[in-house]
Amino acid sequence: MKAKTDWDEFVRACKNCTGCGLAKNRNNVVIGRGTNLSAKIMLIGEGPGEQEDLTGQAFVGRAGKLLDLLMDALMFDPDDYYICNIVKCRPPGNREPLKEEAMACLPWLRYQVRCIKPEIIVCLGSTALKYIVDENVRITRVRGNWIERPGFFRIMPTYHPSAALRDPNKKEEMYDDMKKVREYLKELKKGIKLGS
Ligand code: URA
Repeated sequence: MKAKTDWDEFVRACKNCTGCGLAKNRNNVVIGRGTNLSAKIMLIGEGPGEQEDLTGQAFVGRAGKLLDLLMDALMFDPDDYYICNIVKCRPPGNREPLKEEAMACLPWLRYQVRCIKPEIIVCLGSTALKYIVDENVRITRVRGNWIERPGFFRIMPTYHPSAALRDPNKKEEMYDDMKKVREYLKELKKGIKLGS
């Protein structure tokens, strides 16, 4: 984690951002949620929904509750992970962020990654996958398979918890994918780093 003052400056700058049209209607800029700014895992979703916009916290609505349940069921420690999104302001009606909105916001996310230095990035759903990996990959094809970024981090693509709320099969698959993340985290904690 970079110096705390750098992080505080980053938070202040995000809160003042007017880099895209989403700034107009926001109640809060949603920077992220987590107890540890040096967490080994970064979970990345799409963008804030209504509850997130109102509270300024990432993943606190229905999808977030499911994500918390899943992380607890798999015995992750809250200090293991930090949760954030591709865009930090709520897209109207929870639509997918436009490309220009995502592009305007990505430098903030990159800064967050540089500060937190996660060893694992979990792409929650197709929007995160599109902007972090490649716009031509399909979540249904690649989910559950590690994507390597040697020297930086490994990426685990899985479903967005909203998709898992709609489809119990996806919930099970998401659980299986996150089990792989848990196993790799155990290796990391023992000091074994694979794939880099
Ligand atoms: N969906 C997301 O992608 N992010 C949130 O923070 C909440 C819901």
